[in-house]
Amino acid sequence: MSLTVDKGLGNTIAADTKLSYIDGSKGVLEYVGYDIDSLARNSTFEETTWLLWNGTLPTQNELAGFTKELQSQFDVDPRMLDVVRAIPRTAAPMDALRTLVSALAHFDREADDPSPAANRRKSLRLVAKTASLVALFDRHRKGKALVAPDSTLSLAGNFLWMLTGAKPTEAMTRALDVCLVLHADHGLNASTFAARVTIATQSDLYSAATTAVGTLKGPLHGGANQEVMEMLLDIGDLSKVDQYITSKLARKERIMGFGHRVYKAYDPRATYLKTFAKQVAADTGNLPLYEMTRRIEEIVLAQPNIIEKGIFPNVDFYSATTYYSLGLDLDLFTCMFAASRMAGWTGHCIEQLAANKLIRPHADYTGPHGLTYLPMAQRTGCAGAACSCATALSGVA
Ligand SMILES: CC(C)(COP(=O)(O)OP(=O)(O)OC[C@H]1O[C@@H](n2cnc3c(N)ncnc32)[C@H](O)[C@@H]1OP(=O)(O)O)[C@@H](O)C(=O)NCCC(=O)NCCS
Repeated sequence: MSLTVDKGLGNTIAADTKLSYIDGSKGVLEYVGYDIDSLARNSTFEETTWLLWNGTLPTQNELAGFTKELQSQFDVDPRMLDVVRAIPRTAAPMDALRTLVSALAHFDREADDPSPAANRRKSLRLVAKTASLVALFDRHRKGKALVAPDSTLSLAGNFLWMLTGAKPTEAMTRALDVCLVLHADHGLNASTFAARVTIATQSDLYSAATTAVGTLKGPLHGGANQEVMEMLLDIGDLSKVDQYITSKLARKERIMGFGHRVYKAYDPRATYLKTFAKQVAADTGNLPLYEMTRRIEEIVLAQPNIIEKGIFPNVDFYSATTYYSLGLDLDLFTCMFAASRMAGWTGHCIEQLAANKLIRPHADYTGPHGLTYLPMAQRTGCAGAACSCATALSGVA
C-alpha cells in the first residue's frame, strides 16, 4: 500500500457528497445544484434544509408540512432548562452550546436508534432546537426569564423572539434567515468532516453534532465573524479606517474576514450579503459601521499582490455587521453559524451512513524505535529544558 503525505488533507478527497459543490477558483457555491445567490434571494432556511436533506426543492405541501414539523420541535424537554441553568453564566456561548447539544441526547429516546427514519427525526430535532438553545442560554446568562418558543414563527423569527422576548419585524427575520441560508452547508469543511468521522464509527447523531460544534468553535473556522466585529468596534470610526488597516497590513497582520482556504475569487456568499448587509445596517441605524466595511474592502483590495494571492472578503466579513445590526452579542455570532450548519452536519451524517466506511487515515510516526523498557529505579528522567516533557511538567508545577 503506498501512502501519500497530505497534512491538512487539502489535496485529499475523503467523501462523496451531493449536498454542496464549491469551485473556489471561480467563486461558485451550489447547494444540490442550486446557485447560492439564487437561494439567498429566493429561498428560506426551512426550504434550504429540505433541499439539502432531500435533494429537491419541496412542493408547497411538502414545505408546509416540514415547517410545521420543525416548529413543533422548537421546544426543549423541561429538564433541558435545568441543564441550561446549571451552566455557569460566565461560560462562552459556544462552550455552552457544545454541552447543550450533547445533553439533548439524554432526553431523546431514539438517541441510539440508528435507523434512517430515526436519524431523520433526530436531525429535525437538532436543527429545530439548536437556535432555541442559543437563545435560552443567552437569557440565562443575562439573568433574564427564559422565553418559551412561538411555534407559529419561522426558525429565524422564533430565535429572535426567544432571544429578545419581542416579536421581530419581518425585515429582521429575513435578515437572519438569509444568514442561515448562506451558512447551511459548505462542502467538507472542518466541522462537517469531524461530524462525518464521528458518525462513520457508527456512533450516534448527537455525538456527531457535538463533535461538529466543538470543531466549529475555533477561530480558524467559525470564530472569524466575531473577530471582524471586534475589529470594526476597535477602529470605531470611518475616519480611522485608513490608518488602522494600512498599519495592520504594514505589520503583515491579517485582516479578519478576508481570504479563504478554498475561494481564491470573491466568496459567492459575500457577494449577495454585501448588498444585503447595507440595507440591514441602514434599517437599524448602523450604516456608519457598514461604510467602514466598504472602506476596508477598498483599501485591502487595492494592495499590491492581494488579488493575485486570491484574497477577497469572505462570508464572515459582511455577516458580522448583519448579526450586530440584529442586536446579537458578538459571542453569539458563531452560535448562529452552528444553528445554520446543523442542517449541513446532519445531512452529511445521513449521507455518510448511506454508504459508510470508517474514516481512518494514517499518521507519519516521527518518534524513536526499539527502546528498552527500564525499571523505575534505573530511569534518569527526561532530557532537561529542551524536552517537551520537562516543559510540560514545569508548567504544571
Ligand atoms: C482563511 C485563511 C486561514 C485561509 O488561509 P490559507 O488559504 O491557508 O492561506 P495562507 O494562510 O497560506 O495565506 C496565503 C497568503 O495570503 C495572505 N493572507 C491570507 N489571509 C489574509 C488576510 N486575511 N489578510 C491579509 N493577508 C492574508 C497570507 O499572509 C499569505 O501571504 P504570503 O504568501 O505573502 O505569506 C486566511 O485567509 C485567514 O487567516 N483569514 C482571516 C481569518 C478569516 O477571515 N477566516 C474566515 C474564513 S471563512
